Amino acid sequence: MKPQLPLLEVNDLKVSYGGIHALKGIDLHIAPGELVALIGSNGAGKTTTLKALAGLLHCTAGKMHYDGSPLHHVPSHQRVSAGLALVPEGRGIFARLSVAENLQMGAYTRSDDGQISADLERMYALFPRLAERRAQLAGTLSGGEQQMVAIARALMSHPQLLMLDEPSMGLAPMMVAKIFETIREVSAQGVSILLVEQNAKLALEAAQRGYVLESGAITLSGEASELLGSDAVQRAYLGA
Ligand SMILES: Nc1ncnc2c1ncn2[C@@H]1O[C@H](COP(=O)(O)OP(=O)(O)OP(=O)(O)O)[C@@H](O)[C@H]1O
Ligand SMILES: [Mg+2]
Repeated sequence: MKPQLPLLEVNDLKVSYGGIHALKGIDLHIAPGELVALIGSNGAGKTTTLKALAGLLHCTAGKMHYDGSPLHHVPSHQRVSAGLALVPEGRGIFARLSVAENLQMGAYTRSDDGQISADLERMYALFPRLAERRAQLAGTLSGGEQQMVAIARALMSHPQLLMLDEPSMGLAPMMVAKIFETIREVSAQGVSILLVEQNAKLALEAAQRGYVLESGAITLSGEASELLGSDAVQRAYLGA
């Protein structure tokens, strides 16, 4: 059997904000169809990692390859067309647009209009709560519903790799469970997922592999179940 090439490969990635080294040279990879968790505490560099992958900030060093091609000089909108989608921290929905308009914005890199309306229906099937609220202004939705809009909008770009920045943030347990159910469902459909979470337990239970990021460096990585059981993760992130 031929070894499977990673969909995403990151080597020695560095990002600085002025004099602050937010990422000090990180390595990670994601295989096609894999669900990978990136966990770490506040300020560890999780959002910075996702922004760098999405092309939203300048990397001072390192290499990123997506589907075998270098990503470094690819502008962010072309990364979306290539299948890399980010659901940003804080969701970043358009509050004054309706649910339907938000989802349509997610398809801005596509030109297959007929397929777009079929995909909208697919999103409403995945998130029935959004179907009932398709004409509602997104800014008036609950936090959990807004998170659904953010995920559905990203899915409208037909991503091969979906990157989620703390989807559980600020949500009640019931809503978190719903969002995670959807993440598993999207993963089961074959979309690769990079899941950033402060909720280490939830993330590692959903993921196949995981990375622990501390002060801009990867300090642990491995099978999600092994990380979940490791003393270091238990002590630092699970309050054991
Ligand atoms: N625009 C910026 N300018 C200066 N420093 C920044 C900027 N954005 C992030 N940082 C710093 O970089 C470090 C990493 O931030 P980042 O947002 O990536 O952390 P995080 O792991 O996502 O944290 P959280 O869990 O709180 O979201 C932090 O020390 C932060 O203060
Ligand atoms: Mg963050």
